[in-house]
Amino acid sequence: MKKAINFLLFLLLPWLSMAQQFVANYDEAKVPAYTLPDPLIFNDGTPVTNKKEWEKRRGEIYHIFEKEVFGVVPEWKGSMKSVVVSQRKDALNGLAKRKEVRLELINGNRKIAVMVLIYLPQNSKDAPVFLSYNFDGNHTTTVEPDVLLPDSWVSNNKELGISDNRATEKGRGAAISRWPIKEIVTRGFGVATVYYGDVDPDFNDGFKNGVHEFFDAKRDSSSWGSIATWAWGLSRVMDYLETDKDINAQKVIVMGHSRLGKTSLWAGASDQRFAMTIANNSGSCGAAISRRKFGETVGRINTAFPHWFCDNFKKYNEKEELMPVDQHELLALIAPRPVYVASAAEDLWADPKGEFLSCVYASPVYQLLGLKGFPAKDMPALNTPVMGSIAYHIRPGKHDVTLYDWNCYMDFAALYFKMKK
Ligand code: GCU
Repeated sequence: MKKAINFLLFLLLPWLSMAQQFVANYDEAKVPAYTLPDPLIFNDGTPVTNKKEWEKRRGEIYHIFEKEVFGVVPEWKGSMKSVVVSQRKDALNGLAKRKEVRLELINGNRKIAVMVLIYLPQNSKDAPVFLSYNFDGNHTTTVEPDVLLPDSWVSNNKELGISDNRATEKGRGAAISRWPIKEIVTRGFGVATVYYGDVDPDFNDGFKNGVHEFFDAKRDSSSWGSIATWAWGLSRVMDYLETDKDINAQKVIVMGHSRLGKTSLWAGASDQRFAMTIANNSGSCGAAISRRKFGETVGRINTAFPHWFCDNFKKYNEKEELMPVDQHELLALIAPRPVYVASAAEDLWADPKGEFLSCVYASPVYQLLGLKGFPAKDMPALNTPVMGSIAYHIRPGKHDVTLYDWNCYMDFAALYFKMKK
């Protein structure tokens, strides 16, 4: 017994000591001086002066994010089948059409299922649709009793020690404060949501489960981590949406919160079919400038979540100044398509100021492309959204997604898609 405890301590100590050593900086005066890489300067030092050159430079930046941060997606040789498993014309008391579609990803005799829950306004043909992962199962986003429960890892894995039964009936509607579907549909938008664990379970198991099991490629230091996997999953959902006659695939907005906000940024950068990207409280390695080392740092995120990024990224633990990119360039990769970054005042872990500054520093790329860019230099007051080609707001309160956030995203999308009030 004593031997077993000692062995356990031996395994845990390096992690515990790292976790203990880490003290987040929340003092603006202690933010180090830094110089950001310039998105409008090629790796060889020459400036980018026009749209055509930007396309080339964009490739350089994308390649660095792939190789050094999120990891490279291996070649996909499988196929996908979609099956509509339920359909209702009278969802939400007649306000919406609803369907559940099972995407079956198949590679030889291996198969996984990804369930997409879709709510659309009755007159949906031209409605922009928010595509967004949820954290705990599609049934947590709605109180409707017949939406299916997930059958992937939340319910049948113990790795995270989940004990609140959220994958069961008990979880139905548990996340509705983050999913104001009625309000969204009433304003003429649709929602497509997917439980992110269907695509890749969020724990460090050496990449043996989720869609990873499809890819036989040998892993190396630039192989994809879970965030890249989730972003890839959003592209597969987009493949389906393009075939759905009720949906205008030109108007799909990819939106995500927190780790799933980091994911939406990478999905928006990787797949230009997404018309708009929204990152809610995405923080470290999402929208926040890494070189500020404010709140969660690269070292801390790589220690707590070693499976989110590629192994190369670990080189920059506590050495953010050596990163060949920073997060304003992740936003720039989304240009010319609009992008919205949102912070919460109490969410210092995510570094609201760093999230704001990324918008400022990504702006020159949009401007080079003849667009408005980001029309602010100073942090706006609370609840005062700034909207150009890049939009930003900070609201009071905690790390969360609120109706206020959604209302801002809908205002921004309504402006961009020129929707009637
Ligand atoms: C942790 C993590 C963040 C992440 C968040 C979330 O707090 O440190 O980087 O954004 O979880 O996804 O909820």
